[in-house]
Amino acid sequence: MNTLIIYASKNGSTEKAAKLLYNKIEGEKSIINIRVEEHPNLENYGTVILGGSIYAGNIQKEIQNFVEKNLDLLLTKKIGLFLCCGMEENYKKQLEQSFPKKLLNHSITNQYFGFEYNKNKMNLIEKALIKLVVKGKTNLSNILEDNIERLALDIQGDIKVDQ
Ligand SMILES: Cc1cc2nc3c(=O)[nH]c(=O)nc-3n(C[C@H](O)[C@H](O)[C@H](O)COP(=O)(O)O)c2cc1C
Repeated sequence: MNTLIIYASKNGSTEKAAKLLYNKIEGEKSIINIRVEEHPNLENYGTVILGGSIYAGNIQKEIQNFVEKNLDLLLTKKIGLFLCCGMEENYKKQLEQSFPKKLLNHSITNQYFGFEYNKNKMNLIEKALIKLVVKGKTNLSNILEDNIERLALDIQGDIKVDQ
């Protein structure tokens, strides 16, 4: 099984989570940051795992555009999906907004990978917004390794996971 992980990250937490996932995948594998690296040739992969993070309700445009452009081909692959986002309670809703219904229905599994708030990487407006949400604590890290492990196990098994 040749596996490709494609992710987008603004402040680094999705990148951290995607790399943890990469280390848990066996066999031939590649990992691509879609915001900075060349788009991959999907023909080379049987399994594709896509993820990004949520800003004001939306996943990064680069992931949206990539999925839109390659949807037919992605629907021929084994698919896993993940998100990093601060509001776990909105995970399902934000997942549905991030990926087309066809791809969600086709996917084997999806997981919530947690979040980080890194004030050193935020601009002033972002800091002000987040201050309201997390009440002053702007350096928080909550990357969920168990969920990352779960996705790695699900995608390497053969059974579709009901969530
Ligand atoms: C300005 C800003 C807006 C955000 N908006 C949302 C949001 O609408 N919903 C949510 O669940 N999380 C939101 N978050 C939390 C991010 O999704 C979270 O910090 C994530 O880990 C960032 O990933 P990254 O470091 O890979 O960019 C927001 C964070 C920031 C800084």
